[in-house]
Amino acid sequence: MRVAVAYSGGLDTTVLCRWLKENYGAEVITVTVDVGQPTDFRVIEDRAYAAGASKHYHVDARDRFVEEFVVRDILFNGLYEGEYPLSTALSRYPIAEEVAKIAIREGCDAVAHGCTGKGNDQLRMDASLSYFLPEDVKILAPVREQNWNRDWEIDYALKRGLPIEVKESRFSIDENIWGRSVEGAELEDPWTGPPWEAFKWVRPPSEWPDKPDEVVIRFESGLPVALDGKKMRLREIISELNVRLGRYGYGLIDHIEDRVIGLKSREVYEAPAALALIRCHQDLEKMVLPARCLRFKALVDREWTDLVYAGLWYHPLREALDKFVDELERDVSGEVRLTLEKGSARISGRRADRSLYVKDLITYTAESIFDQRYSEGFSRIWSLEVKLQKFMRGAGRRGR
Ligand code: ARG
Repeated sequence: MRVAVAYSGGLDTTVLCRWLKENYGAEVITVTVDVGQPTDFRVIEDRAYAAGASKHYHVDARDRFVEEFVVRDILFNGLYEGEYPLSTALSRYPIAEEVAKIAIREGCDAVAHGCTGKGNDQLRMDASLSYFLPEDVKILAPVREQNWNRDWEIDYALKRGLPIEVKESRFSIDENIWGRSVEGAELEDPWTGPPWEAFKWVRPPSEWPDKPDEVVIRFESGLPVALDGKKMRLREIISELNVRLGRYGYGLIDHIEDRVIGLKSREVYEAPAALALIRCHQDLEKMVLPARCLRFKALVDREWTDLVYAGLWYHPLREALDKFVDELERDVSGEVRLTLEKGSARISGRRADRSLYVKDLITYTAESIFDQRYSEGFSRIWSLEVKLQKFMRGAGRRGR
């Protein structure tokens, strides 16, 4: 049996490589997909061979990840349950796709991943792998199938001298350019506050600069294209914002999240760029889109976000929603300014190339071109619903 393993280099996937070899006599091909995790990929490759791989692939999917997946999260204001910018969720799709491609090329009989049976990642990996793989290629998830736990895995690895780093961090971290998910250890108690050492981009109060700062983000057709007037690639914009906003202590998320399988979990993230870009994008949309479009788009955004969270990227609904949003976002171009102060980044200004905001209409000064007299008739008719209700309940013209 030949198995392609979606290999991160962590404990789960290192143990499962060896286990597949021992139990099935499998030939193991490891595939590590780079979506911007801060990893020394040479160490990962060495570890893969030590774990029993006969061949190792490294795929750089960093550009793809940003240009095909992260961009959509911005257009759809994708914050799951209003909070989580889907950073881990989005990364699973290019990982699954790249692993499936290699499995097909290598003529593998199965693909294995290290997801547990408790999370959402299993759904994302299974659904995406099954979308790309032929029916006769099996999907294996030994951690889930064998009901492994970390203690058992560490023991298994140590007994076989597998090169794992047992004391990397007491937290379980999943990181890419769009966000860092921090789980485990004391965070499993939802009452315990996360210690600052759990974070990398978002800095503690002792490091917040005294002087405020500003950053101006330019969007074109819904996507960020420049910072402070300087054209940059989206990947660079995100990296720079993670540092600049994080320095002011902005970008932490700590919430109770509803997993697809019904479990509630306490999730802690840092995502300064993702949060800021989505909030700014949303703000600019309000300058450009009519109220009805905004209201309808909020429903679409939520549906899209739920699909992506739940593993259904390759769903026809997601593809159809994409077309809808591209149409609506054409005119979402302009700038949004963030003011950075100790512990915060707040929107302090916006301007759109094609704005529905017209100062001459809204102003209270003599410059106003809005003739209020026309509103009288509108307002009388508007009152009708309320008045009819009163008469229907039998009240007289004066009484109540
Ligand atoms: N709860 C988030 C999600 O489902 C993040 C999970 C972090 N995943 C991980 N393997 N550490 O997308």
